[in-house]
Amino acid sequence: MRPQFLLGLIVVLLAAATAVAVTTAAQAATTLGASAAEKGRYFGTAVAGGRLGDSTYATLLAREFNMCTAENEMKWDATEPSQNSFNYASADAIVNRCTQNGARIRGHALAWHSQQPGWAQNMSGTALRNAMVNHITKVATYYRGKIHSWDVVNEAFADGTSGARRDSNLQRTGNDWIEVAFRTARAADPGAKLCYNDYNTDNWTDAKTQAVYRMVQDFKNRGVPIDCVGLQSHFNSQSPVPGNYQTTLSSFAALGVDVQITELDIEGSGTAQANNYRSVVTACLNVARCTGITVWGIRDTDSWRASGTPLLFDGSGNKKAAYNSTLDALNAGGTTTPTTGPTTGPTTGPTSGSGTCTATLTPGTVWGDRYNSSVTVSGASTWTVVVVITAPQKVSSTWSGTPTWDSSGNVMTVQSNGSGNSFGFTTMFNGNTSARPQIRSCTGAGGGTTSPTVVPTTAPPSG
Ligand code: XIL
Repeated sequence: MRPQFLLGLIVVLLAAATAVAVTTAAQAATTLGASAAEKGRYFGTAVAGGRLGDSTYATLLAREFNMCTAENEMKWDATEPSQNSFNYASADAIVNRCTQNGARIRGHALAWHSQQPGWAQNMSGTALRNAMVNHITKVATYYRGKIHSWDVVNEAFADGTSGARRDSNLQRTGNDWIEVAFRTARAADPGAKLCYNDYNTDNWTDAKTQAVYRMVQDFKNRGVPIDCVGLQSHFNSQSPVPGNYQTTLSSFAALGVDVQITELDIEGSGTAQANNYRSVVTACLNVARCTGITVWGIRDTDSWRASGTPLLFDGSGNKKAAYNSTLDALNAGGTTTPTTGPTTGPTTGPTSGSGTCTATLTPGTVWGDRYNSSVTVSGASTWTVVVVITAPQKVSSTWSGTPTWDSSGNVMTVQSNGSGNSFGFTTMFNGNTSARPQIRSCTGAGGGTTSPTVVPTTAPPSG
């Protein structure tokens, strides 16, 4: 081959490779939350109230995560420092910030042997049982309607080979304390998913995993209200990611509960750590009822195990290799969840916008109980889009925009929040599978409101 032909061929091949790379990058989600949401899942983090004023932290929190767990602020010692006297200030600061960010909240934790207030630690018997019931009732009622999932009971089983309950003051009130906690939580907040959460329950063959499994199976058989199992998934060299992790997830899910990875951190660095994160995320996406992943902090320096550098961002807020493998795994996986295949491509033209901006709604993935939509705005970089939902459908999560609601809950106003010119949301069918969201208006910053014309959007094909 003559040299100039060879050169020409290389140029053509390089151009083709570049084009492919650009196309891929344009299609793949670029944040953890957006990517998980495209798969009908969430990606969350533990939030430390004391760090909300740190601008690097706040930026990463808003950009990457669409679920928040208060790291300590909703625990018993924080919310009920003296008996029947409640303090929600620190927890509310987290709830409010995350809600403004368009993120949802995992409640953590209602009943736990650890981080109890001193007055409860000194109680036993009926007095403690009644105090637990009162605590669950008051806290779950206060946050009623705001919590995606509650860790109702945390860490109630012993480590090791016994498969027994952990000894604690709560356990000594009677073996039924866990089911009483779940029934109490259901009565206080019927809309929240109720989870049992624990650690060292990742290896399917461990006695502790099997014991939790049998409890959940028993609860389902007897109608004790339980909706989900949380695997904390704190991993390090003593407690590595087990090879049968996906089996654990799918086995719990087969009992008819959702599974959530609730406190993920994996000590290590570099490629080894990145590969571990990839395998955990991939396992979740391979299990239809693994509905979300939460990492236990944002930067390594935010971690309760900081010396193990177990998180996705370094101390300066830079993305680590583990971040990239996590995002790649989210973007690549998730083929098992949809019960109806994804609908791709815009099926509607511009739906509004004669002045400052135009909002185009694109149907996304459809599941049995819910579906995604995304909205792309052109003509303005700072915008407000009003979307109308048909009741009883209800939006359950949003990403890449800041939503507020009218009193009916059917009119959602989404403002740009610096994460680009599109946003998305998940809508629960709640029995109506035919209605689809309508764009009412698009308003650009500094401009007037466009005419509030509602242009019908077509429903994606169902099937
Ligand atoms: C940890 C927090 O990260 C620390 O800040 C705190 O000092 C102790 O608790 N399992 C749980 C979490 O359920 O609540 C724990 O969080 C970590 C282990």
